[in-house]
Amino acid sequence: MLVNTPPMGWNTWNTFGGKISDRLVRESADRIVESGLKDAGYEYVVIDDCWSLRTRDPKTGRIVPDPEKFPEGMKALADYIHAKGLKFGMYSCAGQRTCADYPGSFDHEYLDARTFAEWGVDFLKYDFCDHPRYIEGELLYRRMGMALRESGRDILFSACNWGSDNVWNWINSTGAHMFRSTGDIIDTPESFRQIVISQTDKLHASGAQCFNDMDMLTVGMYGKGNVGVAGCNAADYRSQFALWCLCGVPLMLGCDVRSVDEETLKLIKNKQLIAIDQDAECRQPMFLGHPERDKTLTVFRHLDGGKYALGFFNFDDRDKEMHLVFSDVGLSAASGLGFEFENVLGDLGGQYAEYVRVKVPARDCAVAVARAVRL
Ligand code: GLA
Repeated sequence: MLVNTPPMGWNTWNTFGGKISDRLVRESADRIVESGLKDAGYEYVVIDDCWSLRTRDPKTGRIVPDPEKFPEGMKALADYIHAKGLKFGMYSCAGQRTCADYPGSFDHEYLDARTFAEWGVDFLKYDFCDHPRYIEGELLYRRMGMALRESGRDILFSACNWGSDNVWNWINSTGAHMFRSTGDIIDTPESFRQIVISQTDKLHASGAQCFNDMDMLTVGMYGKGNVGVAGCNAADYRSQFALWCLCGVPLMLGCDVRSVDEETLKLIKNKQLIAIDQDAECRQPMFLGHPERDKTLTVFRHLDGGKYALGFFNFDDRDKEMHLVFSDVGLSAASGLGFEFENVLGDLGGQYAEYVRVKVPARDCAVAVARAVRL
């Protein structure tokens, strides 16, 4: 079994787009180890689109790594990444061309899967641009799912059809280990909030072996790079990271890990948040509130070992009082129980009966791990 908890790693796209190279990937892998990100659980180093020449090799039919960007080829890069105890990810597309107009894997699925296996690839992100309309998207993911399974190597299949064709209804059957269920994230608060809001009724399909992928994080980008746009502030990034963890989805970093600031590093290595994300039970969270109307969202999730996670998210530009009435998550007054909270982010600690109320600063969040206690 390849994927019992949500995959964690780093991907080139959000910051670097097409400006990728062997050197960038090696330096990032070095930094993932030195900064403690590897020890925190980030293991997949993934090259996104734009790594190949514009056409396949006419003799072999294979996709060819761009010799200017990757002069030593992909096998050498994979070896370097493996020697660091990390795993190596690459990108292709179910269509004839990738989203940035490089060769896609349509009708070359088995050849490409074998090639990736020979190079030592451990993870394949599989996009959806330029796919022929006469074949159902579902069949294209079935093909690559099967091609990877038969490639002779364990390769995590990261499907990326942006939530088309109600992907959550069928993707698990293709052998995929994670599936993008939304359009592309950009580095603004609105973007990550909309992604979460759009997924509140879709996380039932996420679980061990096949996780809902809410896209690569923009945490720590501060507006720099390919999807940088306006950027977020530190409170937004706390909220984004905590939301991804409470949703139990893959944590793929998108910032430049070589120059990431200390505050971001502390956040993305936060052990309690990562433990929530990686919880062994992989449960769907409960969502309470009306984020569109009130600009707040409350998330509650059952965890392994008799614990619960609670997050209050304030999407508004002003501070807000937020509360949880315990009976709304099933802890009725007749139980004689309350919750004891261990603070994770913000100020949410102590014992409470019936309800808890907390002040959440503008755009920020409060997160705690809870246990039920007799009061
Ligand atoms: C699509 C995907 C992105 C990224 C780009 C690359 O837009 O959704 O995550 O992989 O293609 O071109």
